Amino acid sequence: MVKEYEQELLEHHGELTLECRIPPGVVMTVDRDKFKRVFDNLISNSVKYSKDHLKIMMICVQDGSNLKFSIEDTGAGVVPEEFTKIFDQFYRVDKSRSREQGGSGLGLAICRRIVEAHGGKIWAYAPEDGGLGISFVIPMQR
Ligand SMILES: Nc1ncnc2c1ncn2[C@@H]1O[C@H](COP(=O)(O)OP(=O)(O)OP(=O)(O)O)[C@@H](O)[C@H]1O
Ligand SMILES: [Mg+2]
Repeated sequence: MVKEYEQELLEHHGELTLECRIPPGVVMTVDRDKFKRVFDNLISNSVKYSKDHLKIMMICVQDGSNLKFSIEDTGAGVVPEEFTKIFDQFYRVDKSRSREQGGSGLGLAICRRIVEAHGGKIWAYAPEDGGLGISFVIPMQR
């Protein structure tokens, strides 16, 4: 998956770094297509809401009985007051900007639905170096 995104990002003059700290042998059961859709939506947002040189960092860690995946970008970011709202269906922070970029406000609502269907949680945060961070956890066993 990461290889695919790296290729796509090269076309946008961006780069992607993967930091996978999940020990070998850890198993998680997910719907593969739906899981990929979550990443597709997150990466496409990072591409869409970044103007200049885009850097995306993907971090995977084991967090107790969960696996935690984070995607941080160097784009426009979102003010903290919108951190929960952006997961609502049809919610777009900057309506004119989003229309121009063809967004309908569904991507993150779909991500939330998929993550919750796997017994997990998803949230937004502000990474140290700016941009937007989205993390989600999926329990290893249910
Ligand atoms: N990486 C990001 N950087 C900055 N803003 C973001 C980012 N991801 C999402 N947003 C903001 O959150 C809003 C909701 O995102 P969401 O993916 O749900 O919808 P969309 O991208 O507008 O449309 P769609 O995903 O249906 O094409 C976006 O309109 C945008 O304002
Ligand atoms: Mg989107």
